[in-house]
Amino acid sequence: MGIFSSKNHLNENMLPETLPGHVAIIMDGNGRWAKKRGLPRTAGHSKGVKTFEDVVEMCFTAGVNTVTVYAFSTENWKRPDSEVQYILKLLDEYLDICVEKCLKKGIRMRIIGDRSILPAEMIQKMNDSEEKTAHLHYNLNVAINYGSRAEICHAVNSLIADGKTEITEADISSRLYTAPVGDPDLIIRTGGEIRLSNYLMWQASYAEFYFTDTLWPDFGKKDLYKAFHKFAKTHRRFGGL
Ligand code: FPP
Repeated sequence: MGIFSSKNHLNENMLPETLPGHVAIIMDGNGRWAKKRGLPRTAGHSKGVKTFEDVVEMCFTAGVNTVTVYAFSTENWKRPDSEVQYILKLLDEYLDICVEKCLKKGIRMRIIGDRSILPAEMIQKMNDSEEKTAHLHYNLNVAINYGSRAEICHAVNSLIADGKTEITEADISSRLYTAPVGDPDLIIRTGGEIRLSNYLMWQASYAEFYFTDTLWPDFGKKDLYKAFHKFAKTHRRFGGL
C-alpha cells in the first residue's frame, strides 16, 4: 500500500497485483490540447503541470516507488523562443512548490539532464531541491534539458576522464543520470506518437511500453490504471524463457 492511501482517495481493488516499481512518462500533447480549445499552446503546458501533480500523486499512492518525467528535452530548444521561455519559467516556478510537496510526502527529487546551460538561479534551485529532499524514500526524477544520446556521451566521457580504456555496460549504466534509481519498468507516452524521442534509450532496453492517444492534460486515473493493468498482464522475460 502506498503512502498516500486514504479511504476516499483510491479504490485499491482496482489496482492490479503487480505494479511497476519505476514508471517513466513522456507527457505529450499539451499544445494540441490547447489548440483544440482555441487557447494558446502555453495554456496546455499550464494544464499539463496540474496533470503532472495528479498523476505523480496517483502513482505513489498506488505503490510505485519511482516516477521519471520528461519535462524539457535537448530538442525542445528548437521551439519558438517565447514557448521555450514560458516552459522554463513554469518549471522554475514549479520547483518551489514541488520541493514543499515532496518534503511533505517523503519524495526525493532529482533533476536529470544537463543543467549547466540553464540560468544560474534555476541551477541553484535544482541543487537545493535535491539537497533538501536527499534523505527521502520515494523518487521523483524530472528530466530538464535531457536527451538520451547526450546522457550516454556524458557517461562515456566521464569514464574516459577517469582513465578507463575498456568500457562495460555496467560502467555506462553507473554514469547515467538515472544510476541511483535504475531502469524504468514501464514507459507511458501520451499524445498518440509511438516513439521514444531521445528519452531513456539505454534504460528502456527491457521496459514495457504503454502508448495512448490521450493528450497529456486529459490523462487521468482511468488511463493510468489501464497502463498498470497492461503492465501486470505482461510476462517479462528479460531475454530469457
Ligand atoms: C509536451 O507537449 C510537453 C512539453 C514539451 C512541455 C513540458 C511539460 C509540462 C509543462 C508538464 C508539466 C511538467 C512538470 C515537471 C511540472 P507538446 O507541447 O509537445 O504538445 P503537442 O505535441 O501537442 O505540441
